[in-house]
Amino acid sequence: MSANSCNVVVLISGNGSNLQALIDQSGNRGYRVAGVVCNNPAAFGLQRAAKAGVPAAIVEHRDFPNRETFDGALGEAIGAFAPDLIALAGFMRILGSAFVREQAGRMLNIHPSLLPKYTGMHTHQRVLEAGEREHGVSIHFVNEELDGGPIIARSRIAVRDDDDEASLIERAHRLEHDLYPKVTGWFAAGRLRLRDDGVYLDGNRLPVTGIEEPAPPGV
Ligand code: GRF
Repeated sequence: MSANSCNVVVLISGNGSNLQALIDQSGNRGYRVAGVVCNNPAAFGLQRAAKAGVPAAIVEHRDFPNRETFDGALGEAIGAFAPDLIALAGFMRILGSAFVREQAGRMLNIHPSLLPKYTGMHTHQRVLEAGEREHGVSIHFVNEELDGGPIIARSRIAVRDDDDEASLIERAHRLEHDLYPKVTGWFAAGRLRLRDDGVYLDGNRLPVTGIEEPAPPGV
């Protein structure tokens, strides 16, 4: 894989705004979105892929009698795009553990919280309910633990007194759209590695909470 030939396959289930950011910034960041795999035929992200000329495969879990056959079909659909990197971007199915183990170190996820806090769903609402003064987003390597893999990078924002769920979602998305293409570019350039003892960027082991990237201006 050279810097300009890193094939990224993006897995989505819905809106696909992170997919859009990954596509839009691929030229600047030195990778190529080679394909999209989606488990939901109604996902708006599929329209984004079509508009950008990125091929997409739909693998619907309902079409398969069990977990194993769905996982097998998903693995095949992903493999058909010959990915160097798999980027989960709002993909709402849990991947089979054999597949996750096989892809260790070449599969990323983005999560809308400052991991390891607030794994799982409804992060923005939970952050507000807990009275947190800070919120943010994280990118991590995927392992078998839900939102629990080694953290690569986080960006944070202050929670404002007048924030509600919608305003936090909106600002978190702006952080995500900046951070995901950036981290994907690091991987494409060969700067990012998962090793047994942690995540390395440019040969330096990162803290367990990853590197802190500043929020883009105005967020
Ligand atoms: C993002 O907030 C991401 O962190 C989470 O799912 C959401 C997907 O949004 N995993 P979109 O489909 O990329 O707009």
